[in-house]
Amino acid sequence: MSDFVYADHAATAPLSKAALKAMMPFLTEEYGNASSAYAAGRRARRAVDRAREKIADAFGAHPDEIYFTSCGTESDNWVMRSPELCSEKKKKIISSSVEHHAILNTLEARKHTGLPSELLKADSNCRINVSRLKEALGSSTALVSIMAANNEVGTVMPIAELAEASHKAGALFHTDAVQAAGHIPIDVEKGRVDLMSFSAHKFGGPKGIGGLYICRGVPAGRWLYGGGQERGLRGGTENTAGIVGMAAALEESCENMEKDTHRISVLRDELISGVQKIPGAHLTGDPENRLPGNASFVFEGAEGEALVLLLDQAGICVSAGSACSAGALEPSHVLLAMGIPPELARGSLRITLGAENTEDDIRKILEVLPDAVARSREAAGK
Ligand SMILES: Cc1ncc(COP(=O)(O)O)c(C=O)c1O
Repeated sequence: MSDFVYADHAATAPLSKAALKAMMPFLTEEYGNASSAYAAGRRARRAVDRAREKIADAFGAHPDEIYFTSCGTESDNWVMRSPELCSEKKKKIISSSVEHHAILNTLEARKHTGLPSELLKADSNCRINVSRLKEALGSSTALVSIMAANNEVGTVMPIAELAEASHKAGALFHTDAVQAAGHIPIDVEKGRVDLMSFSAHKFGGPKGIGGLYICRGVPAGRWLYGGGQERGLRGGTENTAGIVGMAAALEESCENMEKDTHRISVLRDELISGVQKIPGAHLTGDPENRLPGNASFVFEGAEGEALVLLLDQAGICVSAGSACSAGALEPSHVLLAMGIPPELARGSLRITLGAENTEDDIRKILEVLPDAVARSREAAGK
């Protein structure tokens, strides 16, 4: 992809060299099943154990609190659909209207079974307010689930405060950290988190592997019936290569976090100030508390999907917040929840930078974008 400017890291990040190197033996000669008793199996088991330790270390957790899944969506489903986290008296889940569909659609499905849930409103910066959560919490609340950082506008949530308020009301706290893990520091103990979802492909690991942190003593229950893998809670032969690649990518991201955060946020800020010179461009998300690589906007009178295609013609990969639903472009639920009018939300664009982006990439985006916005407005008759 070297001919392209890749600026869609929130969709997926390129596989890191360290992850590929760590995975290669397990994709080739080390194909043993981690549950087999002979030497090849034991080598795979040791690699899985070592990876679990590294991941636990990166999040301030114990290795026996890390469970491997296939992706962030699966981890979110596990938590939202676990009957063991609820009881007859406590069965309500409180979440937010700006969560990923992995949470929202699972809650919707749960609602059909008669189990209550409530979605908190976000403020205009996409932050979930602790006082709003306190008002919603009650003795019937079993679980609160608020994402650590938003995938569309990059807003970082006050997780520790939200978790503290949840605990005071006797509820457990889950965070979807799919966008935050590997990008901002995470310490499950300091953050007082009980459950946390993460996914390798967002921080330089391979696709098809993710994980769930379950704090000791939290009864998340059995998710996949099968063999006894993952301490009997999630059956299925371990994806050794994926697990090892995820651990290597996370270790590398954490080692480089300080330096990368600085470099990437300098590029992001340069991009933001350049884009804000385009008339009718507005930054979306929290100007202060945002992920280092996220620069997201709405453009008055423009169409996000058209912008994506116009930038693609210039070799730039970015994404729009809108989603195609029943053949029509629906504005993003996140932007609408932030109070952005539908007309304006249709003109959304998300640019997400990563460690390999350069000054030249920013220059190219800033060269191409004003004309793309003008052409999109023209096509929309604005
Ligand atoms: C916040 C958030 N949660 C969950 C997911 C789903 O993760 P996965 O692609 O690993 O299923 C995503 C993916 O974009 C995400 O951004």
